[in-house]
Amino acid sequence: MIGDKKVLYSAMQATGVLHIGNYFGALQNWVNLSEEYECFYAVADLHALTIRRDPAELRKSTRNVLMMYIAAGLDPEKNCVYYQSSVPAHAELAWIMNCFTYLGELNRMTQFKDKSAKHSDNINAGLLTYPVLMACDILLYQADVVPVGLDQKQHLELTRDIAERFNAIYGDVFTIPEPYIGTTGARVMSLADPTKKMSKSDENQNSVVYVLDDKDTIIRKFKRAITDSDTRIIYSEDKPGIMNLMDIYGAATGKTNEEIEREFDGKGYGDFKLAVGETVADVLAPIKERFEQLSKDKAYVDSVIKNNTEKASYFAEKTLRKVQKKVGLPERIR
Ligand code: TYM
Repeated sequence: MIGDKKVLYSAMQATGVLHIGNYFGALQNWVNLSEEYECFYAVADLHALTIRRDPAELRKSTRNVLMMYIAAGLDPEKNCVYYQSSVPAHAELAWIMNCFTYLGELNRMTQFKDKSAKHSDNINAGLLTYPVLMACDILLYQADVVPVGLDQKQHLELTRDIAERFNAIYGDVFTIPEPYIGTTGARVMSLADPTKKMSKSDENQNSVVYVLDDKDTIIRKFKRAITDSDTRIIYSEDKPGIMNLMDIYGAATGKTNEEIEREFDGKGYGDFKLAVGETVADVLAPIKERFEQLSKDKAYVDSVIKNNTEKASYFAEKTLRKVQKKVGLPERIR
């Protein structure tokens, strides 16, 4: 708790522009929850290093993701938006917690398996210990709740296990966080292959809709979305393409599957795809506009980052000191 509010923590990797999976799976929920909780949102730039990045590109992406948080509606006066690497406590706690995490646990992580298959030429230790750093992000702020898409659920479970293990030895040091997974948009699939998660690294760029895509591009991508040869708009496991579009439309409008089925009863896929494209474009348009304004206001964004880094550091340091003391590291002599 901070004051009378529970704490919410989440982050995104600093990897280029965000797509609608990031938006509907995470960011939109963040905005909806931001009044209720004391919120911390990092740009996970240290996590991004597990894959080789162009340095200038990474610096730009990191700032863009932070601006995207604000553009999507997170008021930086109330929500602590900051760069993970600017708060050294993350990396410091990660070392300690590495010593409380078993290799077997890390080897079981699906994302590690997927990413090592994808980057077989660079299976570095960071790729394996990635979930420990993620756990430390969360635990440093004593977070009660962590809104994420479904793909991060396993990492959240590991976070809870590590925290419980530590607490069992040293007393109640960490709050045990609960995942918050939205009811819609928790797993946005590729438009080209609805059995695969929508992902920035997809070679087919028509399969990914970016938050900064313009309206025509968004509509074109939805029009090309892979569906089946049937014509009915119904939510059914054997229609993964339509299910995905209904999920996206539901996340964009707040409508239930039944409402969507009724709305498009008797209409064809063409009408439905156009409606999804137009609706998504309308949701994203104000975000794009605000993002462009922020890109021109360097002084404002810099001041937000400075203030929020101080705030994040204050809370993170508090937990780190506590942990250092518990495990027996010497007090810092200043
Ligand atoms: P990342 O950067 O891959 O994704 C950021 C958020 O977007 C969600 N997401 C999706 N949701 C629905 N459909 C999709 N296709 C989709 N793709 C991504 C993710 O679930 C996530 O919520 N390790 C994390 C970043 C991180 C973090 C943390 C998250 C670092 N530290 C602490 C929570 C708490 C990651 O790589 O997310």
